Amino acid sequence: MTSIKKTKIAVLGGDGIGPEVTKQAIKVMDAVAERFGRYFEYCFADVGAAAIERTGDPLPDATLQACLNADAILFGAIGDPKYDNDPTAKVRPEQGLLRLRKELGLYANIRPVTTYERLLHLSPLRAERVKGVDMVIYRELTGGIYFGEKGTAADGRQAFDTCTYHVEEIERIARLAFEQALLRRRKVTLVDKANVMETSRLWRRTVQELAAGYPGVELDFMFVDNAAMQLIQNPRQFDVILTSNMFGDILSDEASVLAGSLGLLPSASIGLHTSLFEPIHGSYPQAAGQDIANPMAAILSAAMLVESLGMPEAATAIRLVVQHILEKGIGTPELQPSIVYGCSQIGDLAAHLVAEPEEEILVREDKLQQKVSTII
Ligand code: IPM
Ligand code: MG
Repeated sequence: MTSIKKTKIAVLGGDGIGPEVTKQAIKVMDAVAERFGRYFEYCFADVGAAAIERTGDPLPDATLQACLNADAILFGAIGDPKYDNDPTAKVRPEQGLLRLRKELGLYANIRPVTTYERLLHLSPLRAERVKGVDMVIYRELTGGIYFGEKGTAADGRQAFDTCTYHVEEIERIARLAFEQALLRRRKVTLVDKANVMETSRLWRRTVQELAAGYPGVELDFMFVDNAAMQLIQNPRQFDVILTSNMFGDILSDEASVLAGSLGLLPSASIGLHTSLFEPIHGSYPQAAGQDIANPMAAILSAAMLVESLGMPEAATAIRLVVQHILEKGIGTPELQPSIVYGCSQIGDLAAHLVAEPEEEILVREDKLQQKVSTII
């Protein structure tokens, strides 16, 4: 008898819609396990506002331990309006995620932005401008202004945040970006503010030197303000964007709306310890518990997760299923699909199709009719 490999997954559903979209991703992972002969063991742990409520700490020790012991982390979302609107709050849900990144040394945040033909009309840009956009952002995640020295003067009238980078911090993420470019269209765009910032000039020098080892990859430089504009004006020009923590935070949100829905984009954070996979959307508290949240980003994060575990066929299977569902006109309400499905129905369907790839989707004609008539 062949033994089935057991893989430990820490599941941190977090806040708002986090737990419900994560649940759908797990259904799909279970289907992967069944079809590809793997055994996933899940360890559920608290993080964010949910964890503060229960323990006072947005990243309880038990959660950190579960992450350190796991082979991969499936993360939901973090954030609660209760804390957003209170600048005096001492403990914030986001601190849980920031600490987790630091503790696990997750120095690279990877966000692919792809578009789906059927959803181009949902993009804030004209369809012909976004058609064919296919880029990936490599954002440095454990350095820069996020983690530099910071403070507030005793009288509360002055504050500072410092941006610091070491060559090694730049090199390790740059290497990942170049390796990725080799598998793609072989172009890296370093986004910085080298006309103003010393750290940006260090990024330029370091990345330029590293690029010498990748003669097949074209390296471009772009100031961040220009990049913000170019992302709107000509997003197809980008293949791999490499940038620091803060610039990456801003640009990846900007890039994420190109696709038409935040609910479709996954991300991976990788580094020294266990890798973490999460949808890029937030906790969307208004939608929590209503079964209307789009679980596709969480499901696609599961695809990145299984890929990282050395299961590329499983990742492809999940991506094909997502594409297939979207092409059939099925989706959660915000996609304005022909056939509206709830969050859990999408999860069931995706899991079913991953487990039984030959099955055709049965499109309910009556539902289709109903939708058509409401449009007219
Ligand atoms: C992200 C988020 C986080 C960040 C917040 C929640 C701290 O915006 O993952 O992009 O700024 O990194
Ligand atoms: Mg962000």
